[in-house]
Amino acid sequence: MGYDALLQWLEATSVATTIRENELLFPWIESIHVLAITLVVGSISIVDLRLLGVTSRDRPVGRIADEVLPYTWGAFAVAATTGALLFSSNAMTYGHNFFFLGKMMLIALAGINMAVFHLFVGRDVERWGGAGHVPSAAKAAGAVSLSIWIVLVGFGRWIGFTLH
Ligand code: HEM
Repeated sequence: MGYDALLQWLEATSVATTIRENELLFPWIESIHVLAITLVVGSISIVDLRLLGVTSRDRPVGRIADEVLPYTWGAFAVAATTGALLFSSNAMTYGHNFFFLGKMMLIALAGINMAVFHLFVGRDVERWGGAGHVPSAAKAAGAVSLSIWIVLVGFGRWIGFTLH
């Protein structure tokens, strides 16, 4: 099955058709999507700003991450589910939209950046996380993460302005 055939199949599903043909469902789902992404980006920023040494310098990085990231993952699950529902309702259009595809790529990049952080410098966060000095690799991971999420939100917002 080719890419367009897959998008057409998705758009023809009963769930996608119900969202597309119901006046209230899409705006309600998008509202939940916006609330969820606000919590994703807001909670990740707390950890990234600590890594950059801007905020919460008196609190260990490891403890902040342990307390905050479960909310990030929970909100991400809600954002991905509502996003997929929104996507299905107009799959052919979104599937060829530069800002939508760019947003998906940025989400993948954010995931890779987080994985690299946890696999390398984050492994001994207990050693350096409490002290004032944060290793430059950890600062770089925080700066890259924050930049990706800010651009990602911009791309998400621009989808709606570029639908044809
Ligand atoms: C946590 C990651 C995500 C972030 C930060 C994000 C961000 C955004 C933003 C800022 C908007 C514009 C909302 C508005 O102002 O109206 C949006 C809309 C949208 N997002 Fe996401 N999103 C995320 C995940 C996803 C995923 C995983 C999908 C699909 C699988 C998706 C699909 C959509 C769709 C279809 C729209 C509606 C565009 C429109 O017609 O206006 N999003 N997203």
